[in-house]
Amino acid sequence: MDKIAVAGTGYVGLVAGACFAEVGHQVTCVDIDENKVNTMKQGISPIYEDGLEELMQKNYAAGRIDYTTDYKSAYKDADAIFIGVGTPEQPDGSANLSYIATVARQIAESIEKDCLVVVKSTVPVGTNDKVEQFINDFLTNDVKVEVASNPEFLAQGSAVHDNLHADRVIIGTESKWAEELLKGIYAPFNLPIVSVNRRSAEMIKYASNDFLALKISYMNDIANLCELIGADVQDVARGMSFDERIGNKFLNAGIGYGGSCFPKDTKALENIATQNGYELKTVKAAIDINEDQKTKLYKKASKRLITFSGLKVAVLGLTFKPGTDDLREAPSLENVPLLLEQGADIYAYDPVGAENFAKVYPEGKNGRGSITYVSNIEHAIEDANVCFIFTEWGEVKAVTPKRYKELMRTPLVYDGRNIHDIKDMEKAEVEYYSVGRKPVT
Ligand code: UGA
Repeated sequence: MDKIAVAGTGYVGLVAGACFAEVGHQVTCVDIDENKVNTMKQGISPIYEDGLEELMQKNYAAGRIDYTTDYKSAYKDADAIFIGVGTPEQPDGSANLSYIATVARQIAESIEKDCLVVVKSTVPVGTNDKVEQFINDFLTNDVKVEVASNPEFLAQGSAVHDNLHADRVIIGTESKWAEELLKGIYAPFNLPIVSVNRRSAEMIKYASNDFLALKISYMNDIANLCELIGADVQDVARGMSFDERIGNKFLNAGIGYGGSCFPKDTKALENIATQNGYELKTVKAAIDINEDQKTKLYKKASKRLITFSGLKVAVLGLTFKPGTDDLREAPSLENVPLLLEQGADIYAYDPVGAENFAKVYPEGKNGRGSITYVSNIEHAIEDANVCFIFTEWGEVKAVTPKRYKELMRTPLVYDGRNIHDIKDMEKAEVEYYSVGRKPVT
């Protein structure tokens, strides 16, 4: 058992902390927000993540996890301190490292014994060298500190599972001592460990995320061509997926990737390349395609309808993907303002994301249009002139073609996630447009 402190209780930090406790380590999670700390002590998670509260409650009761704002007491005698604070995107696409710097300073002031600082946050290549230097410059006590890189590969919605059953654990270290300590911490997880140097570990994170973003953008590019030549992108993807070198994941065309990772990490890597005098053409293409993709269906619908003014528009799904209440970079955030500008009366349904969305677009009149949030999906569709699908929630998938036909004023559906069967839509006489597939007109 190691004594572990975790800085930051967002997706990365809190999930890591709960999972370390679950495998038997003694964990203290540090956050600056007193209210958040008190809520977590009651077993309530500040983020919506399957299975997380269960782990928090179980391990808090067993005395293996605690939460505090008092970073000094948490850091002073920790064997390892994991940093999981945010690295938000700055206007120029680079990562904002001010939260990491603050934590590094606090660590330097607090530690009273030799300690390994492990950066889990996604940071530009070379940052961990700087963090190590920074901590050493500000150290108050005569102790040894080393920094390791241990990037996180969890996806929102399946974060706990991804953490406990990761495909691999990447550890980037510069000494045997650091490598052995980190390997020891991960030993109870029983997962494959890839041990590399720090810069390679930092790069593995970007290269992995950007490759997945590229895979999605590639399929969206192919989808757009499929539409023009009469091929079906879902069949194309299925045919490709049998090749083990391609694999069967992340081949779904749609209205583009969102979330807090792909958009940020593609821009960050492009920025790193530019800073180093290199043009990363593949990643740039992934970003450009994604930007165009997000409003593709809106543009198609605009042509078909001439105007949205005075129309009831059903919007199904607001979050960037199912299983999360996160709206960051969600396609809905690009499309809803366009619809409102055009005078649409939107009826939006999302099983968990509506509350967050209403903070950005409060219910009621908005510009020329209006927005109403409904908790019953059929109330969104009922009497609607047109329906947009932005997130493939189970509840959205469950709406049958027949129901669109029965409930809508005009059964006209734009499906950004390709969730419905074309033949079923045809049979139900629903006018249906999806991505990279034949329209039903
Ligand atoms: C992503 C990665 O999947 C994780 O491995 C990584 O650890 C994480 O970023 C991170 O860096 O923290 P996440 O952003 O939570 O995880 O979500 P994904 O499930 O990867 O989906 C991202 C976006 O891609 C979503 O908008 C989703 O709808 C879209 N997507 C995904 C597609 O459009 N098509 C696909 O085939 C797959």
